[in-house]
Amino acid sequence: MLVRKIEAAADIYHTVVGTISTPEKFEARRRLLAERVWDSMLKNDSRECRACHSYEAMAFHKQSNEARQKMKLEAAPNNKSCIECHKGIAHKFPPEPRDD
Ligand code: HEC
Ligand code: HEC
Repeated sequence: MLVRKIEAAADIYHTVVGTISTPEKFEARRRLLAERVWDSMLKNDSRECRACHSYEAMAFHKQSNEARQKMKLEAAPNNKSCIECHKGIAHKFPPEPRDD
């Protein structure tokens, strides 16, 4: 938690010093920022998601075919980390990096 707070403080620092002070600058850094969050969520096994959701509580029979297929047969039995499949839930998925 403390580490995350320090990282969040770093985001605020970058906003203040101007690294992400405009929507354009923020857009340009969004991929990097998102990748950091995905990494940390892989490390903590999607703890934030699991504070509200759990495989035990899922009513698989009420889910869409796609959700049931992936989560009942693949994710739950292997206790897979939510973020492996669910990127871009609360935030819009960042654009792919471009080489040109
Ligand atoms: C504070 C509690 C909370 C947390 C934390 C949370 N969720 Fe949810 N989630 C909900 C609730 C409540 C709904 C139902 C919202 C609705 O139906 O409008 C929901 C809906 C969803 C849905 C279906 C709707 C959609 O947008 O596709 C998915 C998928 C989902 N959550 C995945 C996740 C994942 C992955 C995480 C972690 C990155 C997460 N949730 C974290 C409470 C939470
Ligand atoms: C193996 C990939 C995979 C993993 C891991 C996974 N999901 Fe899903 N999940 C899906 C797919 C595919 C869907 C259906 C498409 C969609 O809604 O994005 C889905 C749908 C959902 C829904 C909506 C279900 C509905 O139809 O009402 C919720 C809520 C959800 N996931 C939460 C979670 C949470 C929480 C975790 C971690 C505990 C998790 N998922 C892990 C693939 C996965």
